[in-house]
Amino acid sequence: MSMRIFSGIKPSGMIHIGNYLGMIRPMVESQRRGDLFCFIANMHSLTTLSDANMMRQYTNDALLDLLALGIDPEKSTLWIQSDVPEVAELTWYLNNVTTVGLLERCHAYKDAIAKGLAPNNGLFSYPVLMAADILLYQSDRVPVGKDQKQHVEVARDIAIRFNNTYGNAFTIPEEEIADEIAVIPGIDGQKMSKSYNNYIEIFGAEKPIKKKIMSILTDATPVEAPKDPDTSIIYAIYKLFGTQEQSTALADRFRAGGMGYGDAKKQLFELLWEYFQPFRAKREELVANMDYVASLRKSGAEKARQVASQTIDSVRKLVGVL
Ligand code: TYM
Repeated sequence: MSMRIFSGIKPSGMIHIGNYLGMIRPMVESQRRGDLFCFIANMHSLTTLSDANMMRQYTNDALLDLLALGIDPEKSTLWIQSDVPEVAELTWYLNNVTTVGLLERCHAYKDAIAKGLAPNNGLFSYPVLMAADILLYQSDRVPVGKDQKQHVEVARDIAIRFNNTYGNAFTIPEEEIADEIAVIPGIDGQKMSKSYNNYIEIFGAEKPIKKKIMSILTDATPVEAPKDPDTSIIYAIYKLFGTQEQSTALADRFRAGGMGYGDAKKQLFELLWEYFQPFRAKREELVANMDYVASLRKSGAEKARQVASQTIDSVRKLVGVL
């Protein structure tokens, strides 16, 4: 059996270039080397989003985005989490082999507490639902950005605990994180994130995207002075998309002096706008064919469900509800 590669995205805002580099692009490339399972984690969005219309919109957008960016439903399994409700049942079984202490150490919950918030139980037990995603589909490898590393480790812990308690039900998953894309910076230099509002979206309109890029944080080095590309957020993002030649040329202009940051930002905007041009065209085609997209949603869920129902059947027997 070929290696199963599994990952997902939570539809709680617009998909951004951090998601693209950290997860989507590696997943698209994985379609050639393994059996790809890619899903939209809409049940995870419920931990922070309570507007049904927004839920539907973000979920739908995420499906269009992933298809446009190259997840191929012929070569992979692409579905929406809630279309395979077995995951909620598995979450319950897994809850009972998960200690509260393990979840208390998870960063999303710890961050919420540190900010003085009163997180709901959904946020607290979010890593268990995520473990259920990964384990339900017997995943071998999980490509993610660094921010999700802890969650994949929790899934491993839970899988081992369950297998030891009841017998072997689950493949033990491993995360896959490439160094150069582990943490993509946002326009303020912190990790790019939907929740920090420092992201550069992929499928937005030209003007707001340009405005965001023009507001990337820089230091006060004057136009004439030489600049260090390696401390610049502009260059950090540029080199992730540019060819070797393009990146070297920009780095040389930084070092030579005479180029203002505004000029460098314009170059970054142009590079990104051009990079995503074919994907924008693909997305427009899909939007004009929503019946086709709906049929893909349905067939994706059916494919995913075949695997899910096998796992859940054996788990039901192992825990003794069947
Ligand atoms: P989410 O939606 O926050 O992010 C989707 C993917 O994008 C990666 N990512 C980044 N990578 C590098 N730099 C960044 N600045 C950056 N921002 C986001 C994330 O690491 C992630 O890989 N809980 C998950 C969704 C999920 C999931 C799963 C993933 C639910 N169940 C099972 C894998 C397996 C999440 O909220 O990702």
